[in-house]
Amino acid sequence: MTGAGRGLGLCLTRHLSAEGARVFALSRQPGEDLPGVTPIPYDQSDEASIRAAARAVDRPVDVVIHNAAIRGDTEGLASLTADHLAEVMRINVAGPLLLTQALLPVLSPNAVLAFISSRAGSFTEGHDPDGDYAYCLSKAALNRAVAKLADDLPHTMLALHPGWIATDMGGPDAPGTPETAALQIIALVSGTDCPPSGSFTDSRGRPIAP
Ligand SMILES: NC(=O)c1ccc[n+]([C@@H]2O[C@H](COP(=O)([O-])OP(=O)(O)OC[C@H]3O[C@@H](n4cnc5c(N)ncnc54)[C@H](OP(=O)(O)O)[C@@H]3O)[C@@H](O)[C@H]2O)c1
Repeated sequence: MTGAGRGLGLCLTRHLSAEGARVFALSRQPGEDLPGVTPIPYDQSDEASIRAAARAVDRPVDVVIHNAAIRGDTEGLASLTADHLAEVMRINVAGPLLLTQALLPVLSPNAVLAFISSRAGSFTEGHDPDGDYAYCLSKAALNRAVAKLADDLPHTMLALHPGWIATDMGGPDAPGTPETAALQIIALVSGTDCPPSGSFTDSRGRPIAP
């Protein structure tokens, strides 16, 4: 679990802990002290930190939830810079890919890797008035990365949209809660209705157009 200290990642970690799962909680700041949860320092913008975190994972892994991301600038084309776009792509796309690469030796043969994406990355369904160019591009790229990983690797690779949920990123007006999204995501990745590898769905497994 990445980004385990707050928002959706914290809800996922709490629910997994309550279910008795053993969780490696990767985050910049240690989160709550929960049963079965091992905190691991992790900065998704830093390749050395990503590799060090993967080395600290000392048991076979059945599920990886790539949750950490930033929204970045929301002020539209006028304020877009190459440096900011590169920073968001580094954290939201390169980070999950490099962590996947570094975790390959400890992945169980049937491991499920869930990449928390966003409908904002859909060419056809991602239309909204927000000026978050870098974020939209990063989630579109992440979705393509998931499809590519599904071509290359035997594990199940999923891009999942959690819905618009009330976290620091989603804001207080969001109609959904991170608690509900977390329960849906856990049911999806651990149940018999897990979507096929390479798919892009919402947290209930309903397909989203690329
Ligand atoms: N909220 C929504 O409405 C919504 C909608 C669609 C998709 N999503 C996706 O859902 C996921 C979770 O978002 P959220 O709503 O929970 O957002 P959030 O409340 O802003 O939390 C973001 C998480 O990402 C972590 N993070 C950011 N940069 C990091 C870095 N460089 N290294 C390590 N961790 C880093 C944060 O850790 P720190 O505490 O250290 O900053 C935090 O745990 C994201 O992938 C987001 O794109 C959210």
